[in-house]
Amino acid sequence: MDGVYINKVSEHEGSEVKIYGWVYNKTHKGKLYFLMVRDGTGMIQSVVFKGDVDEETFENAEKVTQESSVIVYGKIKEEKRAPGGYELQVTKLDIIQVAEEYPISPKEHGDSFLMDHRHLWLRSTRQHAILRVRHEIIRASREFFDNRDFVLVDTPIFTPSACEGTTTLFETDYFGRKAYLTQSGQLYAEAGAMAFGKVYTCSPAFRAEKSKTRRHLIEFWLIEPEVAFYDLEDNMKLAEEHIAYVVQSVLENRKNELEILERDTKILENSTPPYPRIHYDEAVKMLQDMGMDFAWGSDFGAPDETALTEKYDKPFFITHFPAEIKAFYMKRDKDRPECALACDMLAPEGYGEIIGGSQREDDLNELLSRIAEHKLPQEAFEWFLDLRRYGTVPHSGYGLGIERLLAWICKLPHVRETLPFPRMLHRLTP
Ligand code: 4AD
Ligand code: MG
Repeated sequence: MDGVYINKVSEHEGSEVKIYGWVYNKTHKGKLYFLMVRDGTGMIQSVVFKGDVDEETFENAEKVTQESSVIVYGKIKEEKRAPGGYELQVTKLDIIQVAEEYPISPKEHGDSFLMDHRHLWLRSTRQHAILRVRHEIIRASREFFDNRDFVLVDTPIFTPSACEGTTTLFETDYFGRKAYLTQSGQLYAEAGAMAFGKVYTCSPAFRAEKSKTRRHLIEFWLIEPEVAFYDLEDNMKLAEEHIAYVVQSVLENRKNELEILERDTKILENSTPPYPRIHYDEAVKMLQDMGMDFAWGSDFGAPDETALTEKYDKPFFITHFPAEIKAFYMKRDKDRPECALACDMLAPEGYGEIIGGSQREDDLNELLSRIAEHKLPQEAFEWFLDLRRYGTVPHSGYGLGIERLLAWICKLPHVRETLPFPRMLHRLTP
């Protein structure tokens, strides 16, 4: 293959090139065919003029249908009016396959039809834009941690115990023993932090959550840093710098995609640290002042989060949640033992929680009491308790939900478009 990729055609202006791709759409005007050819890196208008090509090529132009696979040959010409700024003056068109009638046409389709055809829907411009922003979020996150000497620690998917409570575990048979799909790599990341000081994971997480909302997936991806000797404030500083770095990278490197998505970028440009830190007490008061029926001790539901996010024009933290509603591993506030040293980051514009984090309980006896209070099987956590037996130190970390951040950055109405093949309550296919 000696073809040229469409995103590089500007380097070949005036020359003859060969492009491998698919026909995105086609229009016809007398002796002219305009084929939009896509190759995954971009799209180029390819003009077939009867007077310039042999008979076979003109017939092929007539034959090709939407999504037919082709090889086009021709000269690259600058053309300001063409999408992408260049045009291919076709000299030859070879067909690899004439595609059958393509189910996704430019007309409007319902969500469920599109989701059933997700394997084909991925070829559309909007899905390209979203998934390229997703790639950038992961790339920039890894660059952020790599630049700070964090070590990537890969954590297991099969686990013997729960990290985030037992209600949302997926159980599976592990050669006659029970195993669970991981809800979070955190406990293993903590072991990593005691070994390497600063670590992060990037892994799928699985939760059997029977929530059918615009922000819940059954399988989603977490980026989880964990740092030895960090307290809650250090953790929040890391989180806000991380998010600001990712948002800035998307603004710089995925400008085109944000334009395709018609994203107003003002709020993204405004997302520079510091982010406000709101104590849970204060958040409760804010909700009550807004006239919402919310009592201290409850967890925020989607409407509560939405109401809070409308008060801010950048991401913000809510801290010191009631310990009762949070996971067993969170350290308590020594002056307010009913509160956990937790920090959730919420995205503005109604998006809500994108990060959950905390300072961890580093005292062996406290942790043993928490495990008992949460009715968790101590045997399964013996290895984790070893981290408190052998050189325990204060430490903190958080988990960023990639799909939640992506949904906000692109201002998507639903997380269904944030993964190539999302797994949701009622969707296991394609
Ligand atoms: O707040 P969560 O449950 O925190 C943890 O799992 C910690 N162990 C992380 C840590 O401290 N290392 O989940 C973290 C993030 C949430 O803020 C949210 O962005 C995302 O994971 N998340 C989901 N995203 C999509 N669908 C779901 N069902 C999600 N559940 C959590
Ligand atoms: Mg959470």
